Amino acid sequence: MRKEHEESTAEPEQKNRSVLQSSLRPEISVIVPTYREAENLPLLIERLSGLRCKNSMDLELLIMDDDSRDGTRELIESLSHDWIRLYTRTSDRGLSRAVCEGLKHARGNVIVVMDADLSHPPESIPELVQALGAGHDFAIGSRYVEGGSTSDDWGTFRQLNSRIATLLAMPFTKVKDPMSGFFALKRCSYESVAECLDPIGYKIGLELMVKCDCERVKEVPIHFCDRRAGESKMTLSEQANYIRHIRRLLIHKYGAWSNLAHFLAVGSLGAIVNLGLLTLLIALGFPLKVSIATAIAISMVFNFALNRRFTFASARKDSIATQFCGFIGACSLGALLNYFVTNELAGEFPFLYPQVAALAGIAAGVCVNFMINQFIVFRSEASSAKTNAKLVSSE
Ligand code: GDD
Ligand code: MN
Repeated sequence: MRKEHEESTAEPEQKNRSVLQSSLRPEISVIVPTYREAENLPLLIERLSGLRCKNSMDLELLIMDDDSRDGTRELIESLSHDWIRLYTRTSDRGLSRAVCEGLKHARGNVIVVMDADLSHPPESIPELVQALGAGHDFAIGSRYVEGGSTSDDWGTFRQLNSRIATLLAMPFTKVKDPMSGFFALKRCSYESVAECLDPIGYKIGLELMVKCDCERVKEVPIHFCDRRAGESKMTLSEQANYIRHIRRLLIHKYGAWSNLAHFLAVGSLGAIVNLGLLTLLIALGFPLKVSIATAIAISMVFNFALNRRFTFASARKDSIATQFCGFIGACSLGALLNYFVTNELAGEFPFLYPQVAALAGIAAGVCVNFMINQFIVFRSEASSAKTNAKLVSSE
């Protein structure tokens, strides 16, 4: 085993040896993120070693460990295999971050990522690699294609959880198991997006598939076993991270259109707040006019806060007072346009239901309101160039 963290201070002779070794690139790099997996690693290494011998696979193993202090270091040192490298990470921890660091160090032309707990069968690696050789951009060890399965004792909650998470990934990919942490891709695919990887949480495979724009994805059926030893590190906060990750990917993929979706979602919530408050205030006995005005004012502040926090988050550093005035101005302009369009249409086409005219008025008002907010009120130098480019390119 080579101790990567010591390479920079190595003696000249040692340095030469690592230059020589790094010039002999292995064919495949297997990256395994670990946190407290010392109990599982011996069997994983044994099965990977079996692949090297039986299938003559030229592979290196990169163990990306978040300073587990559970004997992982001692174990790898005692094995002293030159095809295994242990990286002990003390900052920027987390599964995806660990894999990202592994990607930077991987030397093989093909990269495989898998878990350490033997949920993923190492024996499926040749099939994943062959899929790339056959022209696919990405290969996934999949539980949800024909022939794939999960351990029988998965409870209803875990099944449901996994299915909902898979549904949330639908805007990005049609694959059946985008949540899988067992996958392979070519190093050149990774290199083309290395700078823009920004995952949070567990779903590094989804991040890579979306950012690399992979269209030809092969799903290789696997049986996903329950972990052999130790505990899962999946927590509720990791689930919340997944939602945040999905939001980031939406912004990446759909640019300003995702802002529009956020804006509309916030607008709908605002309408609910408005109606709820109006009902409450009237029930409390406030005069109608006061109730209407208060409900409008509060829902506008609510919409402003949510849009500033989520829809236009990239402009959050700019002055809140200026943005608030701009937002109220844009809403007022939108409302005015809504009034004129509805009025004109209802007058010009008396056979139209006034509600239909009002719908057209609302659409026109929302469009203008959104455009002013997007391009003037919440315009930030960083976001505007990117979102403009996205809007133009998808037109
Ligand atoms: N370096 C590092 N840092 N590794 C971590 C961390 C961390 O913070 N958290 C987890 N890992 C490692 C674990 O040691 C294991 O090798 C792998 O990441 C997966 O962690 P598990 O805790 O076993 O995850 P799981 O079984 O709940 O989730 C599995 O299923 C998902 C699909 O349902 C994993 O296979 C995921 O990759 C997969 O997406
Ligand atoms: Mn696991």
